[in-house]
Amino acid sequence: MLAMNYRGPYRVRAAQKAEPRIEHPNDAIVRVTRSCICGSDLHLYHGLVPDTRVGQTFGHEFTGVVEEVGPSVRNLKKGDHVLVPFNIFCGTCFFCKKELFSNCHNVNPEATAVGGIYGYSHTTGGYDGGQAELVRVPMADVGPHLLPADMDLDDAVLLTDAFPTGYQAAEMGGIVEGDTVVVFGAGPVGLFAAKSAWLMGAGRVIVVDHVEYRLEFARNFAQCEIVNFREVDDMAMHIKKMTDWLGADVCIDAVGAEAAGNALQYLTGVKLKLQAGAATVLHWAINSVRKGGTVSIVGVYGPTFNMVPIGNVVNKGLTLRANQASVKRHLPRLIEHIQAGRIKPSEVITHRFPLEAVSDAYHIFSSKLDNCIKPVLVPAMH
Ligand SMILES: NC(=O)c1ccc[n+]([C@@H]2O[C@H](COP(=O)([O-])OP(=O)(O)OC[C@H]3O[C@@H](n4cnc5c(N)ncnc54)[C@H](O)[C@@H]3O)[C@@H](O)[C@H]2O)c1
Ligand SMILES: [Zn+2]
Ligand SMILES: [Zn+2]
Repeated sequence: MLAMNYRGPYRVRAAQKAEPRIEHPNDAIVRVTRSCICGSDLHLYHGLVPDTRVGQTFGHEFTGVVEEVGPSVRNLKKGDHVLVPFNIFCGTCFFCKKELFSNCHNVNPEATAVGGIYGYSHTTGGYDGGQAELVRVPMADVGPHLLPADMDLDDAVLLTDAFPTGYQAAEMGGIVEGDTVVVFGAGPVGLFAAKSAWLMGAGRVIVVDHVEYRLEFARNFAQCEIVNFREVDDMAMHIKKMTDWLGADVCIDAVGAEAAGNALQYLTGVKLKLQAGAATVLHWAINSVRKGGTVSIVGVYGPTFNMVPIGNVVNKGLTLRANQASVKRHLPRLIEHIQAGRIKPSEVITHRFPLEAVSDAYHIFSSKLDNCIKPVLVPAMH
């Protein structure tokens, strides 16, 4: 089959690969119909995630049709159309019972923090991903979600990560009616966080980035105020100025380890890898939020030392919330929002590529060319 293939930093290509097989009675094989590239894939593409092995197929955001199921699978059958959350999880462990599906204890022998994720290096279990014609789906009774009959595939594929992650970012902010919410990052996750903040009753939503076309997109898609951080001397001071000098009620980090905007952080975190990514947005969020406010983090970071102003967290009495999203938990509510017409997730899809063009797709998305917000890969015949 044709599949995306990692060859090293900034080098990916479409290549022939052995078809996946049922390896466990609860596996399914899914024929992919849509597969997105995510900001998280860029951390892999840039060579920042440890133990990213040559030959791995990325892709944790996909929809497909069930091609084959293992003998113990009860909830799926050949021919079912599914969307597959990016988390791989067992559904029965201590953490899954608390609906912390992204922290499942049974699917990733490589770590005790994060659970399993498709196509996301051996640090999240070493599973191959869905930027391919076929993908093996473990725990097939638990993860995949049957596609509602009237659901557009482009909307469905955004329910596998970007929309639920943005939604959970807003949810972890504990937004109450009238709150001022600042979202750092105008990528797909930040856009959905901004949109979700309104759904939760925010009174004001401000999105920060430095890529003009993304800020413009955010203004239209999420009806928010925008700030280009290149035009601002001191971010915390700027947000305070915009909020009667109190600071925002909630700050959301939808950027993560590769943040621009601070030379020292970028040098030590991204170039020299002396810390687990540039903590620029953590700084800005902690210093821009009001006393007693909440910082919600969904941007991805490595696990070790970061230059974070933890003393300000203590002295301001902040709440920090963070996680990889627990996609499955949000699906019923988000499907309802789509069906009620409150949001059309596929509006963020700006580019479609055949799987053969995966290399161009990564390049265009990574370099923010051609006003790219979200690219989707479409295997032949769909
Ligand atoms: N927690 C989760 O479950 C989860 C799921 C999906 C993605 N993520 C993470 O969320 C982050 C965003 O994902 P995405 O797909 O939207 O990525 P993206 O790369 O498309 O967007 C990131 C945006 O941040 C902007 N940016 C860079 N530095 C900034 C700064 N200092 N302040 C404000 N904006 C800045 C970039 O210009 C870009 O537009 C990534 O770190 C990704 O790994 C987490
Ligand atoms: Zn993703
Ligand atoms: Zn579990």
